[in-house]
Amino acid sequence: MTRPKLLVTRHLPEAVEARAARDYAAALNPYDVPWTRDSLVAAAEGAAGLLCAAGDPLDAGTIQALPATVKIIATFSVGTDHIALDAAKARGIAIANTPDVLSVATAEIAMLLVMMAARRASEAEALIRARAWAGWAPTQLMGVTLEGKRLGILGMGRIGRELAQMARGFGMQIHYRNRSRLTPELEQGAVFHGEDDAFLGAIDILSMHIPGGAATRHWLNAERIGRMRPGSIVVNTGRGSTVDDVALCAALGSGHIRAAGLDVFDGEPKIHPGYLGAPNVSLLPHLGSATIETRDAMGFLALDNLDALLLRGEAVPNRVV
Ligand code: DGY
Repeated sequence: MTRPKLLVTRHLPEAVEARAARDYAAALNPYDVPWTRDSLVAAAEGAAGLLCAAGDPLDAGTIQALPATVKIIATFSVGTDHIALDAAKARGIAIANTPDVLSVATAEIAMLLVMMAARRASEAEALIRARAWAGWAPTQLMGVTLEGKRLGILGMGRIGRELAQMARGFGMQIHYRNRSRLTPELEQGAVFHGEDDAFLGAIDILSMHIPGGAATRHWLNAERIGRMRPGSIVVNTGRGSTVDDVALCAALGSGHIRAAGLDVFDGEPKIHPGYLGAPNVSLLPHLGSATIETRDAMGFLALDNLDALLLRGEAVPNRVV
């Protein structure tokens, strides 16, 4: 049987590429150079499927220009905001993602950023690297204790719930803002908030886990920041577009927001210059799912999605549209 052509847009973990090459006529991207729209469309010639990743330029124009052979795009991510879903739907191209397998790894990065922000870890490390540390001092670089603090989780899906579980181990109280209230089994005593103002006013630390896209753009704006308690902390491991960088930088400068921890950025890899000069921000380069175990699992799940349709003619397990 002829193996279907699969275009793999980015360099993926070795075991994932090996499986792709075993089961498909796979066009790999060993140099990991991001595609332009034209080069991606040209490379997709004759492909039945695409295995793409966050950051690939799959806007409406690219989707419309893809060859008619393309039946499915499986993304190596849970987020799908880099894909024009409506355009894919209009062309009958299935889109599938990789939910669940990255929840623990992403929650770990959120917890890491909560701790880095609360304990001023980036500022402290910079002091040592600048060879400016003069030794232990009673009032040097004091942060805040996590025990007893109210952690507000915006978006209580799998990642938010994993974070809640970790934070309980630190003695934190969990509040959450979600479209709908969870069952008591999933809630595990967390306090549900049905509207933004009460949620933001009730918490000491905000951890953001909402998807990107037009509906959530700049959700954290100057007005909502103003509703937060003075001295609060903001952490974002969801999508950078959900934060108004100008407003957050201003609040970090005034001290209304004590510290922030950011793993995602609006228009990344571009970073708002206000963050680069702010000592009270910890910055990570979109590492949420970046563990060896998780990246393998994401790749295998993306291939499972492709295999269902392209190798067995079955329904796609994690189909988004
Ligand atoms: C995702 O899966 O959406 C991450 O942001 C990329 O790993």
